[in-house]
Amino acid sequence: MPADQVAVVLLAAGKGTRMKSETPKVLHPLAGQPMINHALAAAADLGAARSVVVVGPDMEDVRRAVAPHPTAIQPRQEGTADAVRAARPALADFADGSEDATILVLYADTPLVRPQTLSRMIEARREGASVVVLGFRPPDPAEYGRLVLDESGSLEAIVEFRDADVAQRAITLCNSGVMAVSAAAIWNLVDRIGNNNAKGEYYLTDIVALARADGLSCSVVEGDATEVLGINSRSDLAAAEDVWQRARRAAAMTDGATLIDPGTVWFSHDTRIGRDVVIGPSVFFGPGVTVADGCEIRAFCHIEGAEIGPGAIIGPFARLRPGTRVEAESRVGNFVEVKNAVLGAGAKANHLSYIGDAEVGAGANIGAGTITCNYDGFLKHRTEIGTGAFIGSNTALVAPVRVGQGALVGAGSTITKSVPDDAVATARARQTVIDGAAKTYRARKAAEKATRKKES
Ligand code: UD1
Ligand code: MG
Repeated sequence: MPADQVAVVLLAAGKGTRMKSETPKVLHPLAGQPMINHALAAAADLGAARSVVVVGPDMEDVRRAVAPHPTAIQPRQEGTADAVRAARPALADFADGSEDATILVLYADTPLVRPQTLSRMIEARREGASVVVLGFRPPDPAEYGRLVLDESGSLEAIVEFRDADVAQRAITLCNSGVMAVSAAAIWNLVDRIGNNNAKGEYYLTDIVALARADGLSCSVVEGDATEVLGINSRSDLAAAEDVWQRARRAAAMTDGATLIDPGTVWFSHDTRIGRDVVIGPSVFFGPGVTVADGCEIRAFCHIEGAEIGPGAIIGPFARLRPGTRVEAESRVGNFVEVKNAVLGAGAKANHLSYIGDAEVGAGANIGAGTITCNYDGFLKHRTEIGTGAFIGSNTALVAPVRVGQGALVGAGSTITKSVPDDAVATARARQTVIDGAAKTYRARKAAEKATRKKES
């Protein structure tokens, strides 16, 4: 089946009240991106031609987050079948309703479902099933819908927990909610779903019994309980994050990175790590980080929106903020913060510095305590430091300012004017030395103190 024969309906209209949040549930971040984007990414990996997101009427921010994917509005949350119906205008023409085409229903609050599992469902469709349901066996089946199989092992019906009898409740195979339905059959089937059940809702799960009654075949693909983990509360969110991080850490190690204490390293959805990278304990990668081969990220670093070149050494205790590029073999040491700045190849900022809105040339050395004063209270300005320049410790570089190639700035300087190539600049009070003055001072003060004691 060609990849363009799959369209996705992503259900996101639920309110998610158990998150107790002003933010819609599906926008809470998982691995550094909104939860809903995970399902969209899985759909894209699968090669889905279209994804339509079903939202509630007051979910403008969700619509913005998923753009350019189209959204369909479900006016009232009357159940999962009603939600799928809301996507019909956007998909009615999909693949001309071909039997070979699939409409895949995903939940925005079930973000860990893997594209490989979805592929297996498409495969099962190709083998002749009109409806394929992703089932799983959770440690505690709780209130999930149960999958009822017939003698031949085909799916006969899905029964919601509230509507299930004792025998049905004993079934351990549960409904994840993910479903792949023939584009030829889906609209006719969902149109006929009623709401005569315990909740008075239109259950998408009823599609199976209706399909069977029409003589269509239905089947189950089993997935892992962790990948269909649904997020309803903040503790579910933390549990999903844990599952995601464990898998990502394992993948980083498989791909050739050393994680000294894997459980304390946090990745984002788009973190890219090269080979022979050593990552120390307690390192956090926010979104947009690339680490090239052979780098060392020492303990306690916080890194986001940064590109780290081959062989660079970062940390311990470094913070790289968005717009940072650290080129080959350069060094960013302890208590150094870098933002929107380039550190050229082999450049070093080893201790206690802030480098913001700056360009540091290759091989330059930034002394301890150097600060780029990039903000004048209204606007940000740039600092340029030439190749091979040396900035003495505790220098304030008041931007906009340029220090030329090979120039040398004396320690403790406040540099407000540009320094030409190969020049030496100092900008600090001249030192005065008075011979013997300390001794005189001590004698005078000791005498003063003796007089005071006598008087009291
Ligand atoms: C659903 C399934 C159940 C399954 C469980 C897995 C039905 C009837 N039941 O139950 O068999 O075991 O998921 O987690 O499908 N949504 C809308 N509009 C609505 C209702 C829901 O968009 O009117 C969305 C929600 O945002 C959510 C998803 O559909 O993403 C599932 O809805 P939810 O209410 O959580 O269904 P469950 O009762 O958990
Ligand atoms: Mg649910």
